[in-house]
Amino acid sequence: MNETARLRPDTNVGGDVEGPGRAGIRTNVGGDVKGSGRAGTRANVGEAIRPTGGVPGGRAADLRAFAGVALRRQRVVGAVAPSSPALARALTTIVPSSGTPVVVELGAGTGPITEAIRGRIAPGGRQVAIDVDREMVAHLRRTRPWLEVLHGDAADLGALLASAGVGRVDAVVSTLPWSLFPVPRQVRMLEEIGRVLTPAGAFTTVTYLPALLLRGAHEFRRRLGRAFEEVLITGPVWRNMPPGLAYVCRRPVPASAAPGGEDHS
Ligand SMILES: C[S@@+](CC[C@H](N)C(=O)[O-])C[C@H]1O[C@@H](n2cnc3c(N)ncnc32)[C@H](O)[C@@H]1O
Repeated sequence: MNETARLRPDTNVGGDVEGPGRAGIRTNVGGDVKGSGRAGTRANVGEAIRPTGGVPGGRAADLRAFAGVALRRQRVVGAVAPSSPALARALTTIVPSSGTPVVVELGAGTGPITEAIRGRIAPGGRQVAIDVDREMVAHLRRTRPWLEVLHGDAADLGALLASAGVGRVDAVVSTLPWSLFPVPRQVRMLEEIGRVLTPAGAFTTVTYLPALLLRGAHEFRRRLGRAFEEVLITGPVWRNMPPGLAYVCRRPVPASAAPGGEDHS
């Protein structure tokens, strides 16, 4: 059985929704999920993910590629190991499994989230993976020829997608190392994500528990609350190295309407 086929509904996924107040986000670890299952998405807590057929070289090849890049470029990768199936499942609940959705992954790395997206996305959907690192991109292209891979910076998301003929996006899934980015860069990336999402679209991303000790992680959390009307926090997902929280965000606030306007301080 391949990696994706082993995914089980064992993550402690729960949380609480804070409404359009925007000013903050509330964590309700282990609480009930509210406000999920909106148009175009489904709450898949407890649902299995389709097997995806595996990749050449299997998980070992992915791990070797990840370790190679992570050792050389820790400031770009920002993680000690690829995401686990449990984290992948928590982040991909927003992937529509009906219709013809466009799903974009930011910071695809060696592909663990890619596989989970592939296991959920509707058969007529379009799946695009983006990474800034050449070696990660080469690995993805080599091991997953079915995948549409774009090499570039998530800060240029709109332009990157336009170059590939992608207009509006239904779901954006990110494992970008947010706490490593300066605030103006975080803001720009969130604005780009907000601009490409459809009104019913959704965005998920992760923060690692140790990173919560860093100022950048708290700043990012505040920025998320300004960039989206609704931010749901799920987890912790303990079965990941390191454990993390998933943010599930909906209804982007246009940059000019966000509290503080276009303040990038
Ligand atoms: C924490 S790793 C996650 C990799 C993989 N998705 C996983 O879950 O194991 C972060 C990834 O984001 C990529 N990355 C970092 N900064 C980026 C940026 N500005 N634009 C696009 N990708 C970026 C890194 O190259 C790396 O592959």
